[in-house]
Amino acid sequence: MPTRAWFPTYLYHEPLQRAGLDRFNAELAEECRRIRDYDAAGRKWCEKNYPGGYTSYASLNRLHEFSSTFAGLERKITAHVKKFARELDMDLRGREIAMSDFWVNIMPEHAAHSLHLHPNSFISGTYYVVTPRGCPGLKFEDPRLSKFMAAPPKTPDARPANQPHITYPAKAGWLLLFESWLRHEVAANRTTEERISVSFNYHWS
Ligand code: NI
Repeated sequence: MPTRAWFPTYLYHEPLQRAGLDRFNAELAEECRRIRDYDAAGRKWCEKNYPGGYTSYASLNRLHEFSSTFAGLERKITAHVKKFARELDMDLRGREIAMSDFWVNIMPEHAAHSLHLHPNSFISGTYYVVTPRGCPGLKFEDPRLSKFMAAPPKTPDARPANQPHITYPAKAGWLLLFESWLRHEVAANRTTEERISVSFNYHWS
């Protein structure tokens, strides 16, 4: 083939573990809702910054230091992050990676999360806890999109890797990892049930 692809953007999508996810997620969902009920400052912050939904991103954002459930989840996620970093050929010999932020997101009907990236970290991701049928997935944008201003549009049947966006479904029990600079968004939840996820950032030293 005369044409080859270079400079890929990697996404990692894998179940957290092989078994026991239903029970684990039910308990985790309860804890997420308790955190929301307890976190008055966070709910107030969300009125302006996360309309219609709840995130502990600005209030309780190091949950792995306060909750044994989240600490246990951190250990499992870290194993996946190390695997992802190896697949990215990152040289972590003699270096350490650590979770810096860990927070809850609860999106009821109509809540959405506009395009953003995750500052001050190198790998970020989300673990899905409650995902009602038909709830929105995570939509990623081609990081080179701004450089394509003179390119013709893609054909309707363009290969997925050549499309300007890719949406991963939100699936309870699944982990989605990406490099923190990759912009992404969540469309409005058009189901009548809450969509619950936990998100995290990693840094290295
Ligand atoms: Ni995000």
